[in-house]
Amino acid sequence: MASLSALPAELGAIGRQLALRPARWLVTGSAGFIGSHLVETLLKFDQAVVGLDNFATGHRRNIDEVRSLVTAEQWSRHRFVEADIRDADACRAACQGVDFVLHQAALGSVPRSLANPLATNAANIDGFLNMLVAARDAGVTRFVYAASSSTYGDHQALPKVEDRIGKPLSPYAVTKLVNEIYADVFARCYGFPSIGLRYFNVFGARQDPDGAYAAVIPRWTKALLLGEPVTINGDGETSRDFCFIDNAVQANLLAATVDEPAALNQVYNVAVDDRTSLNRLFEILRDALSIFRPDVLGIRASYADFRPGDVRHSQADIGKARRLLGYAPSHDIKAGVEVAMPWYVARFAVSDEVS
Ligand SMILES: NC(=O)c1ccc[n+]([C@@H]2O[C@H](COP(=O)([O-])OP(=O)(O)OC[C@H]3O[C@@H](n4cnc5c(N)ncnc54)[C@H](O)[C@@H]3O)[C@@H](O)[C@H]2O)c1
Repeated sequence: MASLSALPAELGAIGRQLALRPARWLVTGSAGFIGSHLVETLLKFDQAVVGLDNFATGHRRNIDEVRSLVTAEQWSRHRFVEADIRDADACRAACQGVDFVLHQAALGSVPRSLANPLATNAANIDGFLNMLVAARDAGVTRFVYAASSSTYGDHQALPKVEDRIGKPLSPYAVTKLVNEIYADVFARCYGFPSIGLRYFNVFGARQDPDGAYAAVIPRWTKALLLGEPVTINGDGETSRDFCFIDNAVQANLLAATVDEPAALNQVYNVAVDDRTSLNRLFEILRDALSIFRPDVLGIRASYADFRPGDVRHSQADIGKARRLLGYAPSHDIKAGVEVAMPWYVARFAVSDEVS
């Protein structure tokens, strides 16, 4: 049974506000990792939700899992549209009658974009523009979209502050920068309100551990659980501001509902303002999994070349989101990993887990 008490206090407070003004939301990329969590939380807050996805990297099983986590009544307020955001007509149809858009659909991954820049461009720029035009024409109240920390590119300063960016280091980073530019131009030219959320390495349950472009936390977690080799790219001192999914969900709901005009037509870092090296991340994952599988403590990682297109260090200044959105991350990396690991343990059906 879904209950608000199962949610962090920060989310619960937003939920109580949302319950006072039920709305209709469109979540694109809803069969993916972040999108499915947004749908789950909105349904738990008794909102009406349209999900849209073409299953390019998302999975039906994520939607099925959300269904299992909400009540039948909450699920009755959900509608799923299998569609491609590269199809402008499909975007228009999906935006009809919608109050808020949370646009997550995109092809993620820096290496994927290096291997196939055309595909990344089509989904992330053409698709984004289709959604922006459709949302504008449908009179959507607000358009919140997934931006990315990759936009900081080759800018060396730490922590990262929103208005100081460098040159993009990959085609993926170009697409996310172009999204921000389009959103800004739509605000100036058409008065269309939006907010961009620059996610920093979001992680949690349902993040895909499979495939060549899997993110580091699900990839290593799966490898540890299956006894497969764990490879660290570079010397392991590359660092990231790993952000638990509940923090990203919180940022989306705040961005959609903030009333302060100064908060609109801005981009915000969504992270924790912390920095964890890959070497340390490996230890955190191994320790968290050892509760279920003591044998993982004996596993050592091996090292390979640095990955092209990767920035060396990343850490967010989250002061702007705190100030203008009221964002307050509920989980640091260790707390988030503790919440996420049981899902991966269950997913890989480990026979000797302890409860
Ligand atoms: N996860 C992170 O750490 C992170 C960091 C920065 C930015 N982002 C951005 O956040 C968003 C969500 O990422 P995620 O981690 O949930 O990835 P994901 O791959 O799990 O989800 C993306 C979803 O978009 C769908 N999609 C892709 N192309 C589509 C298309 N043409 N039409 C319709 N649906 C399409 C996919 O099928 C998938 O379900 C993306 O925009 C991504 O670039 C994520």
